[in-house]
Amino acid sequence: MIFPTTLLTLLGVVTTLSFATPVKRTVSNGAALNKDFPDPGIMRNSDGVWYAYSTSTGSGLVPMSKSTDFATWSTPTNVLSSVGSWATGAVWAPDVREITSGHYVMYYTARRSSGPSNDHCIGIATATSPAGPFTPNTSPLICDLDNGGAIDASGFEAPGGGLYILWKVDGNSIGKSTPIKIQHVGANGYDLLDTATTLITNDPIDGGLVEAPSMIYWDGWYYLFFSSNNYNTLKYDISYAVSQSVTGPFTKVQAPNAPFLVSGQYNTAGPGGATAINVLNQYVSMAFHSDINGQNASSGRAMWTISNVCLGGGVAKPC
Ligand SMILES: *[C@@H]1O[C@H](CO)[C@@H](O)[C@H](O)[C@H]1NC(C)=O
Repeated sequence: MIFPTTLLTLLGVVTTLSFATPVKRTVSNGAALNKDFPDPGIMRNSDGVWYAYSTSTGSGLVPMSKSTDFATWSTPTNVLSSVGSWATGAVWAPDVREITSGHYVMYYTARRSSGPSNDHCIGIATATSPAGPFTPNTSPLICDLDNGGAIDASGFEAPGGGLYILWKVDGNSIGKSTPIKIQHVGANGYDLLDTATTLITNDPIDGGLVEAPSMIYWDGWYYLFFSSNNYNTLKYDISYAVSQSVTGPFTKVQAPNAPFLVSGQYNTAGPGGATAINVLNQYVSMAFHSDINGQNASSGRAMWTISNVCLGGGVAKPC
């Protein structure tokens, strides 16, 4: 088909008028990638190709799948060369950003090679292509071990180009709270600047934790998507909080405008681990996972997608 962009370009119309309509406008209503692909981090490369990355599975340390139409996704292959000399074992919840042309940063979670099993830190790996191979830095970026460790990192570029990293303090691993934090980073996408700010933390309604932060900006509002409750249950969800400032204060949106997505809607089961992407200020797309067996994570979590999230005035919903 002739995409409107192509047509408008051929007609000599300014390309910023194009892209008004996304390719698809619905939840995938079934897995977009029907295999184990938990905690998907997605990014749209500057050439328009979509890349998705997941927690370690049988497909690799960091499986990557790509798509040119946000509908058909390639068979996952590994893109992370090793977990890093500071770490051991698996990788969780990777998120990749194109910081500048030819400079890609992966934020990921792994366990330190020494210490107790709850010693999770955030590491950095870099590559010159979104298809990798990504090479890990030799030391972790954020640990916060006294408060339970640091996990679930993601990147965010604010209007004007300021770069940030968000993460979850993994307090529930030691019976503490789980603040979601943000910190300004430098032009390479990961040098920490200024100080960290807490955006939200878990309230009684959150079932003991909030995690998997993903932030976008849309029309005057910052939307902070997160998951609450235990990922291995049907209570896992996609919720969100909003603010008109990148560092808050953020307000958790309440019913009937929240949660964003819970089990049962669109036949999902334990939906969560979402990543939302603002595509050139034209539309917002999302990927998340849902339990393959419809009950819990034991048979894997497939990637589902929402090609168009409707946002306005601090309210977000699948549309
Ligand atoms: C997870 O779901 C499977 C399949 O439905 C079930 O057999 C198993 O008992 C469940 N595990 C837990 C821990 O609930």
